[in-house]
Amino acid sequence: MSASHQLRCTSCGARIASEAVRSDFRCPDCNGLYEVIYPWSQGWSAEKTASAEVRLPNPGGMRHLWQERRTSTMPVDQSGVWRFRELLPIVRDVERVVTLREGNTPLFEMPRSAELAGVDWLLAKHQGMNPTGSFKDTGMTAALSVAVERGFQWVACASTGNTSASMSAYAARAGLRSIVFIPEGKIAWGKLSQSMDYGALTVQLKTDFDGCLKLLTKLVQQFPIYLLNSVNPYRLEGQKTPAMEIVEQMEWQVPEHLVVPGGNLGNSSALGKGFLEMKHLGLVQRVPKIHVIQAQGANPLYRWFGDENREMKPVKAETRATAIRIGNPASWRKASRVIEETGGWCEQVSEQEIALAKAEIGAEGVGCEPASAVTLAGLKKLVAAGRVTREERVVLVLTGHTLKDPQYTIDYHRGELLTAAETAGATEAERARHAALRKPPLVLEADEAVVLKALKERMAKADAAGTQAVPGSSK
Ligand code: F0G
Repeated sequence: MSASHQLRCTSCGARIASEAVRSDFRCPDCNGLYEVIYPWSQGWSAEKTASAEVRLPNPGGMRHLWQERRTSTMPVDQSGVWRFRELLPIVRDVERVVTLREGNTPLFEMPRSAELAGVDWLLAKHQGMNPTGSFKDTGMTAALSVAVERGFQWVACASTGNTSASMSAYAARAGLRSIVFIPEGKIAWGKLSQSMDYGALTVQLKTDFDGCLKLLTKLVQQFPIYLLNSVNPYRLEGQKTPAMEIVEQMEWQVPEHLVVPGGNLGNSSALGKGFLEMKHLGLVQRVPKIHVIQAQGANPLYRWFGDENREMKPVKAETRATAIRIGNPASWRKASRVIEETGGWCEQVSEQEIALAKAEIGAEGVGCEPASAVTLAGLKKLVAAGRVTREERVVLVLTGHTLKDPQYTIDYHRGELLTAAETAGATEAERARHAALRKPPLVLEADEAVVLKALKERMAKADAAGTQAVPGSSK
């Protein structure tokens, strides 16, 4: 078996050598998903753990090394994933990894959103600031580097748009060919255009994401194609590194809560793995409560939590947050374990709540795509239910860039997004917020007097409504 890592089935616990994994990344005995484990992981083996721990730099040493790499000129050090390579030794030659300098994303203070949600201190880890505009890049650099090392020529994924954009870019960098399966008509333009731009063979299927993944899972067993969906456990190794970045950016303090959108549920699983491994290694003393937020129309995990029989029942997914329009999430077991192990919760939010939260994040000068905005909408509910208290520190994971789905934003501001029934479900306060946030463009004659009159009216109206809160002004 490989000295650096093994794969362990998260359902039955069976361990295999990394090279022995099936092309669909499923356990042949129980169909479970694998996770990557290392000699220092919990449950590797007592005698190996003892010797490996000696080889592993001590927590203080690692922190120093990771910080030092930020000033290096080497591509592998400039990557916010491979900077933490001691915690993901999955490739033999780290200098040959495929990197677009992913990671190293900002952690923004969100004072206005904090006030709206009812907490004193709110941060947003903006994974939309990655090279292709979503968190997928952190996982793609990891799994695609493994594909290259294993000698694959073709890679493929099923996607709601961001995985395909990311995979196409990394495949192009590596000189590999890529195939993407996407649900026809249900992905945002920004994402569709990316996979074409990066030269992927783009296949639009007349089905949803779940149908795309099912079909691709069968195809990869017939062709030498490397599957790059998040069932591939190496994706999650890259996607766990924002956990390290967050605590590093908070001077090694751990937030009380982390709020993550839930679709196929790979990302929440990965972040949980990152935090739990750091605790195991003594890099942090505790972990945040990890909360997963789903759209109401694509809420199988939320339903599972409320089901006394704890049965996973796939749903027919429907939401305008197309990134998380997933009814049969592959990694639900991993994610539910992370929620339970960290003491988190699973919430659902309506289309109206998502639209409002997205506009609020936009009005803060940060912006994100609709699927990311479920985090702020969900936080409001967590606070209302007493699961998050005012003085606790919360980090929202914003997963995608606002430019991924400009049509959603334009429709919202023109008042063409939400249906009357959806708006009817809003509270008075929410309706007032929508009205204040909506900024449809003015169409005017290019005449000085006309423009002046319109501006005067608008400026007076804005002044009468009061100035927008500025950081610190509310306290
Ligand atoms: N946010 C965004 C912007 C996404 O693109 C996704 C997933 C998620 C959240 C949910 O993450 O699936 O790990 O729970 N997008 C996948 C894709 C499914 O194909 O791009 P998850």
